[in-house]
Amino acid sequence: MSPSILAADFWKLGEQINTVEKNGAKWLHIDVMDGMFVPSISFGMPVIETIRRRTDLFFDVHLMVQEPERYFEEFARLGADLIDFHLEATEDVPGCIEKIKSLGKKVGIAIKPDTPVSEVMPYVRDVDLVLVMTVEPGFGGQKLIGKCVDKVTELRVVTDRIGLDDINIEVDGGITIDNINNVTDAGANIIVAGSAVFKGDIAENLKAFNEKLR
Ligand code: DX5
Ligand code: ZN
Repeated sequence: MSPSILAADFWKLGEQINTVEKNGAKWLHIDVMDGMFVPSISFGMPVIETIRRRTDLFFDVHLMVQEPERYFEEFARLGADLIDFHLEATEDVPGCIEKIKSLGKKVGIAIKPDTPVSEVMPYVRDVDLVLVMTVEPGFGGQKLIGKCVDKVTELRVVTDRIGLDDINIEVDGGITIDNINNVTDAGANIIVAGSAVFKGDIAENLKAFNEKLR
């Protein structure tokens, strides 16, 4: 599980991050939006810098940012462990992968719902993770788009076929207790959830998710 703090109560951000950590989460999903690649603006450098000082969770930083290469160095310095950039946001995908690797960080490449799996295939051997968006990026609390689950199945099949059975497939958007097993059955092994973790009782929510993952 990679709980997305976009859905957190920012008044209690530190407290809520402690709660997810205490309840078994190892990753934290951090959504950075620039108001260009996606309509909304979320939060950025100072927030990451602040929380990095207080937790050892693995920081999964999802950049929904146009020309993300402008910021890799900064996010690496602030404590990202994995940097996910969007294939659609840059003209130089190989350059982005190289840059993140040269900073000593894990690389994730993200695709929007309308981007076919075939577009990411040329890069799968060079990345640690593929992030398959299961909603249009930009906002939390949306409903999962069913056809994106088929993309997870396809990606798992084609990457298995070329012997890449250890590639991480992450899903993000609209994941709930009721549909998590659809995405894990399809082959996703890293699950982002915002609303379904942070709305209501965080400890109970994570417990329910972990039951489903057993
Ligand atoms: C959406 C973000 C997601 C978001 C998921 O653009 O990338 O990470 O926080 O939120 P939920 O789980 O509420 O759909
Ligand atoms: Zn995200």
